[in-house]
Amino acid sequence: MRVLGIETSCDETGIAVYDDKKGLLSHALYSQVKLHADYGGVVPELASRDHVRKIVPLIRQALADADMTIEDLDGIAYTKGPGLIGALLVGACVGRALAFSWDKPAIGVHHMEGHLLAPMLEDDVPAFPFLALLVSGGHSMLVGVEGIGRYEVLGESVDDAAGEAFDKTAKLLGLDYPGGPRLAKLAAKGIEKSYRFPRPMTDKPGLNFSFSGLKTFAANTIAAEPKDDQTRANIACAFEEAVVDTLAIKCKRALKQTGYERLVIAGGVSANTRLRASLAEMMKNLGGKVYYPRDEFCTDNGAMIAYAGLQRLKAGQTDDLSVKGQPRWPLDTLAPVD
Ligand code: KG4
Ligand code: ZN
Repeated sequence: MRVLGIETSCDETGIAVYDDKKGLLSHALYSQVKLHADYGGVVPELASRDHVRKIVPLIRQALADADMTIEDLDGIAYTKGPGLIGALLVGACVGRALAFSWDKPAIGVHHMEGHLLAPMLEDDVPAFPFLALLVSGGHSMLVGVEGIGRYEVLGESVDDAAGEAFDKTAKLLGLDYPGGPRLAKLAAKGIEKSYRFPRPMTDKPGLNFSFSGLKTFAANTIAAEPKDDQTRANIACAFEEAVVDTLAIKCKRALKQTGYERLVIAGGVSANTRLRASLAEMMKNLGGKVYYPRDEFCTDNGAMIAYAGLQRLKAGQTDDLSVKGQPRWPLDTLAPVD
C-alpha cells in the first residue's frame, strides 16, 4: 500500500509518499520560518496563504521523486488537527479534493499521533508498549502507548508547551524566531550550572508539567544580570538544564508508574541534544532504551502523516467526504488500530 501524506498544521508544508513494504519513498518540505521571522512568531493568515502557494508544487515534487503517478497511490492522509484552523483547512481541502477526483480513500490524521509514530520511520523501531514524551511547540505530553490508537495521556502541560517555553525564553535572550534551536546553540557555549533555575512541579506527585514560571524566572535573571555573550550563554544553558531535568524526572516517574521499558521522544524539542543525552543516560541506568526520529522528522513533516495515515487506511478506516479541520482534538479519543 502507498499513501500520500500532507502536513499543513502550522508553519511547515510537508508532503511524503510512504510504502508499507519499501518504507519512505520520498518527502518534500517547505519551511515558512523566513516568512514569520519579522513578526517573532507564526502569523496564522500568512501561514494559510503560503500553504496554498506551496502545497501543489510539493505534491508534484514528492510524486516525481518517488517515481510514481497518481494511479500508483492507494490513499491520501492529511493532518486534520490539532493546529491552526486556516492552515489545517488547506491540507484538508487539497487532500479531500484529490481523493475525490482520483477516487482514492482518504483519512484525516491527528498531528500528535504523527509525531508519536515518527520513530517508526527509522530502522530501529520501538516495540509496543512504550512511554512517549511528546514535546513540540504546541504540546507537552506523557502518553502510555499500548498500540496504534491506544493512547493514555498520563500528563500534560498546564500552561506553556516545552517548545513554546524555549521560543519565549529565546526571544527574551534576543534570539530570532524560532528560538528553540537557537537557544540550544547558545546554551552549548554556556558554563554548566552557573545558575540554578527551578524544576517546576517536580516536588509534587503527578505527571503534569508547567513551564511558564521558568520563562518568568529567565526574564528576571536576564534583567538582573550583565548582557555579555558569556552570561547570556550561561543563562540559556541553565534554562535548558532546567527543562531537560524536569522532563527527565517526569519520564522516570511515568516509567516507574507504568512499568514500560521503552521511551519514545518526539516533536520538535526531541531534536535537542541535551535532552536526548540525558534521557539516553537515564534509560541506560534503568536497563531500558530511548528511541527518537532523525532530526528532520522531529519537527513537522509529511512522512509521519503518511506513515500514521497508512496504518489507519490499511485497517479500513477512512473519513467521509466533508472537509474538516479540528484545531482541538484530544489524543486519547482516537480509534484503535488492531
Ligand atoms: O513539532 P514542531 O515542529 O511543531 C509543533 O508541532 O509545534 O516543534 C517546533 C518546536 C519549536 O518550539 C522549536 O523551537 C522547538 O520545537 N525546537 C527545539 C529544538 N528544535 C526545535 N527546542 C529545543 N531544542 C531544539 N534543538
Ligand atoms: Zn508538530
